[in-house]
Amino acid sequence: MDTLEHDDIVHLDPEQPFWERFYMVAPLIVVGTQNEDNSYNLAPKHMAAPMGWDNYFGFVCTPRHKTYRNAVRTGVFTVSYPKPSQVVLASLSASPRVGATEGPRRKPALNQLPMRAAAEVDGVFLEDGYLFLECEMERHVDDLGENSLLIGAVKAVHVEKDALRVSDKENEAVIRDNPLLAYLPPDRYATIDETNAFPFPAGFEK
Ligand SMILES: Cc1cc2nc3c(=O)[nH]c(=O)nc-3n(C[C@H](O)[C@H](O)[C@H](O)COP(=O)(O)O)c2cc1C
Repeated sequence: MDTLEHDDIVHLDPEQPFWERFYMVAPLIVVGTQNEDNSYNLAPKHMAAPMGWDNYFGFVCTPRHKTYRNAVRTGVFTVSYPKPSQVVLASLSASPRVGATEGPRRKPALNQLPMRAAAEVDGVFLEDGYLFLECEMERHVDDLGENSLLIGAVKAVHVEKDALRVSDKENEAVIRDNPLLAYLPPDRYATIDETNAFPFPAGFEK
């Protein structure tokens, strides 16, 4: 079998930062947590996914971020999946904090973000998303370099009615009418409204 030693292939040094040298497809979520002063925090994350078929959801976050510290301290977090029309709102949740280095450093941009209260856990969602998860912290895997993987057990799921797959509407039309937001790290996004049925092999079972 030939190797990847080929003029068309570039070999990058895995000891050097390499994820920003090419594009990939990722989701974009907004994680909600509660601060020490009982106010709420929202922050965008793209390294995020269901952790298997059961009710687990995980995202990668550095312990330097308030999101990590809040989730570990309170034991809960929320997840909002924004629509493409909300990409600016999702981005605003990454606005810099201001204030003294001692004492609370606030993210004033959060005041501009419309929020909705969660029901099962003490938390908030970004309003007008299409999918919302309420999670209890299950475990965190630390020291993945400077990052950690936070895994929650999903305790409540809320989906906008129009985004649900329902048997009397073609799946293609569900997405066309309710486009999905994709983040293409490190610096682009896409609106997904045109999709195709996946060509599963005959006899495929998950
Ligand atoms: C589009 C986008 C995606 C991001 N994805 C992640 C991520 O997956 N993990 C992470 O730790 N930070 C990610 N960040 C950075 C933080 O979420 C962001 O800096 C945030 O403001 C940290 O806030 P916090 O201290 O309130 O948690 C992302 C930022 C943007 C703008």
